Amino acid sequence: MKLTVAEKIIKDHLVTGDLIRGSEIGLKIDQTLTQDSTGTMAYLQFEAIGVDRVKTKKSVAYIDHNMLQTGPENADDHLYIQTVAKKYGIYFSKPGNGICHQVHLERFGVPGETLLGSDSHTPTCGGLGMLAIGAGGLDVAVAMAGGEYYITMPYIVKVGLTGKLNLGVSAKDIILEVLKRYKVVGGLNKIFEYTGEGVKSLSVPERATITNMGAELGATTSIFPSDEITYEFLKLQGREKEYKNIVADDGAFYDEEIIINLDELEPMVACPHSPDNVVSVSTLKDIKVNQVAIGSCTNSSYMDLMKVAEILDGKTISEDVSLVISPGSKQVLNMLAVNGGLSKLISAGARILESGCGPCIGMGQAPITDGISLRTFNRNFKGRCGTPSANVYLVSPEVAAVSALTGYITDPSIYMEDINIFMPERFLINDNLIVNPADYGEDIDIIRGPNIKPFPKSKELGREIKGKVLIKVRDDITTDHIMPSDAKLLPYRSNIPYLSDYCLTPCDIEFPKRAKENGGGIIVAGFNYGQGSSREHAALVPVYLGIKSIIAKSFARIHKQNLINNGIIPLVFENADDFNNIDMLDELAIENMLEQINEDKIIVNNRTKSKAYKLILDITERQRDMLKAGGLLNMKGE
Ligand code: F3S
Repeated sequence: MKLTVAEKIIKDHLVTGDLIRGSEIGLKIDQTLTQDSTGTMAYLQFEAIGVDRVKTKKSVAYIDHNMLQTGPENADDHLYIQTVAKKYGIYFSKPGNGICHQVHLERFGVPGETLLGSDSHTPTCGGLGMLAIGAGGLDVAVAMAGGEYYITMPYIVKVGLTGKLNLGVSAKDIILEVLKRYKVVGGLNKIFEYTGEGVKSLSVPERATITNMGAELGATTSIFPSDEITYEFLKLQGREKEYKNIVADDGAFYDEEIIINLDELEPMVACPHSPDNVVSVSTLKDIKVNQVAIGSCTNSSYMDLMKVAEILDGKTISEDVSLVISPGSKQVLNMLAVNGGLSKLISAGARILESGCGPCIGMGQAPITDGISLRTFNRNFKGRCGTPSANVYLVSPEVAAVSALTGYITDPSIYMEDINIFMPERFLINDNLIVNPADYGEDIDIIRGPNIKPFPKSKELGREIKGKVLIKVRDDITTDHIMPSDAKLLPYRSNIPYLSDYCLTPCDIEFPKRAKENGGGIIVAGFNYGQGSSREHAALVPVYLGIKSIIAKSFARIHKQNLINNGIIPLVFENADDFNNIDMLDELAIENMLEQINEDKIIVNNRTKSKAYKLILDITERQRDMLKAGGLLNMKGE
């Protein structure tokens, strides 16, 4: 049978199921990663499962999100993660070593292996031919404990790249073009597999930019073949022994196919407030910029920042622009320091931040009120930057750097003539910020600061679900809306009771109070509820508030699984117009829940309006058992 790259890796890791699209499959997971924002909870869950050592080939705990230390909370969480990692056989990447995806690509990713990460941009490692999937913390905890990871066997989209990028056009513009075509929901249950002549002209970090931002499509993952370019990258990282050639068979079947001619691509920009709101830079006229932020797991590689350094070399940024740069890793920052790139950035007027997520997760550098911020990041949801009234545009490093000079969003094409950046002869390898795990059986104390609180457990499914509609929200509600992640809240990632006072407050400030007064209830939502990150807190906090079910027009993939893992029932309107027939505080009831949970269609009664609606419960038998038990951890405890 002729197979695609994704199918080859899936076949090698199948524990249950087969390659039939739309059916449930269980995958063996080789590697896991966590970051600190989701990691604390994932390790608490891992401890609750009760195994004495991780069962994966390699698991890595990164500190990259919550790096500001304005109080002891973040530092305490870091120490918990460091000690729990040491005890259970997990590598620990210290603060300052870099963003999880950038470092994982550099130092750990292996072609042909599976990677499950508690961060939605885990597909970054698809850039070197890895099947890399973002998931909730509990799924990652289960994978660390040796359990398989279940997904719906995705449809595979062939993205054929022809031609070669013109000067000033970059990998970021390729993924922006895909987002323009597929939008933020167009990738659900799909893998985007890149192929064709154009692939050969893209380095691994450029491929990783594309697979990283493929997360914004709602896709299961994105992947490139592992070829001679992959070999070169691994060799420069001193890891050529980990290379494996993986290319699609001639004549392999793809479910869909699109072609992007790189010759015709222009510099693109995702306008506020969605990554799919994409137009060509050349169509924007005279948009004055207040802030330029370069970095994030999408665009902070050595080559990205060297391009920026060369563009800025000998020049000064606009007096009206604040330029902040966060290198993706210690390796990137160190190489810029050694080769003089850092000096070029500083001389031009850039402010250099530490290697981490920084402004991408709202940890500092909020723009001015009503400001225009140009960012090389992957998300521009309203308010994510820390300034609710700001407008964030997503662009390539080239557009960002040139616009920092001119003060306006500018097409970089004519500024690029003398700029030529090549891969270095060797990456600077120094892993001294990676702490190795202890030997098995070594006595390690796990240190838990006062900020670390137990996570909420949901109860077994009852005979009836009833409750008031506590909130009605529009389409495309993100995990940032459900559980905001600004610099003030991030330090409380392991303190669910504290966070509960902020749940869904960007939509309705009264929601937490109403939920607590009513002892929980039901959320009603539009399409694509829970898009964005893998943030499990967007399920854990509703569990704490007593939310029993969410009735939506549709759900984002990772969030739906997080809800099920934590015992919240994700129901979809059979007739989307019924959304309009339900009002806030209507009393809803699902009777005979224990019988109805086995059905694909469920009836909910609106007792306030004496009406009934049909809902769809599109889940697998295994997921039904999980909901009956009140969540995955309750099942593991059986
Ligand atoms: Fe960090 Fe932003 Fe990526 S928060 S992991 S840099 S999407």
